[in-house]
Amino acid sequence: MARFFLLAALLAPISSVYAQCGAGTPNAKVTGSGNSFTASRGSTNLYTGSDYRLAIQTAIDAITSGQRVSVIASGSIGASTLTIQSGKTFEACGTINVALKAGRGAIEVTNASGVKIPYLTMTGNPYFGLRFFGTKDLELGDITFDLSGGMGIRFDRDQAANTNVKMGTINCKRTGSHCVETWNINQLQIGSVIAKNVGECGLLLQKVTNAKVGLVDGDNVAKGNGYATLRFANQAGKLNGGYNTNIFIDRVKSRGGGRGIFCVSESGAAEIGTIDLANNGNNAILLENCYNVNIKGGTVNGGGQVRLAARSEFANSKDIAITLKVDGTDVVESPCTANKTKWKLTGTGKKTICT
Ligand SMILES: *[C@@H]1O[C@H](CO)[C@@H](O)[C@H](O)[C@H]1NC(C)=O
Ligand SMILES: *[C@@H]1O[C@H](CO)[C@@H](O)[C@H](O)[C@H]1NC(C)=O
Repeated sequence: MARFFLLAALLAPISSVYAQCGAGTPNAKVTGSGNSFTASRGSTNLYTGSDYRLAIQTAIDAITSGQRVSVIASGSIGASTLTIQSGKTFEACGTINVALKAGRGAIEVTNASGVKIPYLTMTGNPYFGLRFFGTKDLELGDITFDLSGGMGIRFDRDQAANTNVKMGTINCKRTGSHCVETWNINQLQIGSVIAKNVGECGLLLQKVTNAKVGLVDGDNVAKGNGYATLRFANQAGKLNGGYNTNIFIDRVKSRGGGRGIFCVSESGAAEIGTIDLANNGNNAILLENCYNVNIKGGTVNGGGQVRLAARSEFANSKDIAITLKVDGTDVVESPCTANKTKWKLTGTGKKTICT
């Protein structure tokens, strides 16, 4: 409870700074429609023409750190990239349609601090909708991806790391890949990730430490593959060589799709408050070579097994605690984890566990 209020308090500024998209007096604006877009700063016209992307980038480039640009117009940027520099607030009040630019984000913030994107709705088929690396004090507010393919949000694996990233509510529909893929973030706060008909993960945490997440909600996520509504991988939670709890997830809900919760490849240090998984097409829960994972309560109803497993390439799972009501599917622990899993199971699901 204390954590919930702390999270709510910390997230409050994101949604309350601007009452609604475009409110007040943005320093620059992009208006227009169809074949005619205008970028302006105050009463100064910066651009008028048919190029929606150029109008937006011109407006972004015309403001300075601490200022805000509001894109009132809807349009299409095509297969290109908008870049937002340090200290700038970018809000899209219309809908930005995008197309695939290989290896790149439709919108990128790289090696930059203090960028805020309070509002964004994106349609189309990007490679990455939003791409980030080397960010500090990044804030995303209310972000919606209604796509026909591609990934929603991506933090790069092989680039500079990120510190202090906040996200409000991330909504994804029909991303071909993940809704939110993170790599290399210390201090991450997310209100909600809501993923519907998403090809791979809802939320994927990799090399992430000191994270607090409110809700991860997946509906038909990762169908037919090994991904999950919530996945921890690649040493997520590993901090100073150990696995003291530093990832806190309040709630996970998952319906159908593939896996519900999947922890793999030396991840852990995670506490999940309550879960509600039903009819997952692959394992409802799979923990594989993970260390210090505590699922504190909730239900699994039908779908694939709740399974503790291990591959030989990493040390066996250890320090696992699971309190759960399981009905309509099995619970299997094989091999037995190190340090004896603390099971508190209720429900009618068959149990093949180490006691
Ligand atoms: C980003 O910053 C890092 C660290 O300062 C630097 O090594 C890297 O070259 C930068 N990357 C780009 C693409 O500018
Ligand atoms: C088992 O748990 C105890 C305390 O909970 C810890 O000190 C010890 O390191 C753990 N053992 C292994 C093998 O991880």
